[in-house]
Amino acid sequence: ALDLLAPDLPRLIAHRGLSATAPENTLAAVRAAHAAGISWVELDVQLLGDGTPVIWHDRDVKRCSNGRGRLAEMTVAEARRLDAGGWFAPGYAGEGMAGLEEMLALLVEREMGVNLELKVNRGHDPERLAEAAVPAVMAALPPHRCLLSSFDARALARCRALAGPERLALGALFKRLPGDWAAQARAVKAWSVHADWRRLDEARARAVKAAGHALVCYTANDPSAFAPRWAWGVDAVISDDPRVFDGVDGSR
Ligand code: G3P
Ligand code: MG
Repeated sequence: ALDLLAPDLPRLIAHRGLSATAPENTLAAVRAAHAAGISWVELDVQLLGDGTPVIWHDRDVKRCSNGRGRLAEMTVAEARRLDAGGWFAPGYAGEGMAGLEEMLALLVEREMGVNLELKVNRGHDPERLAEAAVPAVMAALPPHRCLLSSFDARALARCRALAGPERLALGALFKRLPGDWAAQARAVKAWSVHADWRRLDEARARAVKAAGHALVCYTANDPSAFAPRWAWGVDAVISDDPRVFDGVDGSR
């Protein structure tokens, strides 16, 4: 294994919180994961126009709120007025967009871990995002309960410049693993490599393990279809509903 800080990553992680049963990336989705006995969540973080880090996936608020507009053009006062729960189910109406700080406070309170994905949407600055996220996460959570990941190499490089590999675990996130995945992971001293499970082949999976990385797959919701991949050395699966994996094949 690589000489890097290794977080206590469980086999199953709830994608955007327990997004199968609660509005994604909200405090409610993290409470739902906790209530289901899931100890780690994957969450997306990005910056509003005023620089406030928030837990949100899309570039705009249309899909997951009752409002409209791009995050890059929004202040925290405007974001606070949105209903980010009612779109999912009436019972979640009034759930707000979560700020990174309040989300971290909830994770601390519930003693949970987080794979925080630095989501660099079009027009956003990857370095500014890393500069907001890294100090906040490191101040709140013990190092073995956080893993910062990104598709964006500049965001990862900035994270690594802000915190050394003995203090902060990073994950290099890919769709299909590119030919130079190993060089990219090495460049930021990534602890883990994350891949879309549908586009992962056995040879690349085994190569990731041989290079000493943890291997994380997203977003798998069908445990039987996923099953053969556990034997390839997959360490963790990010799922909208990890409960469906309970006791299925290699997941426990
Ligand atoms: O972190 C894994 C996964 O969340 C990446 O894709 O679009 O769900 O953020 P997405
Ligand atoms: Mg994500």
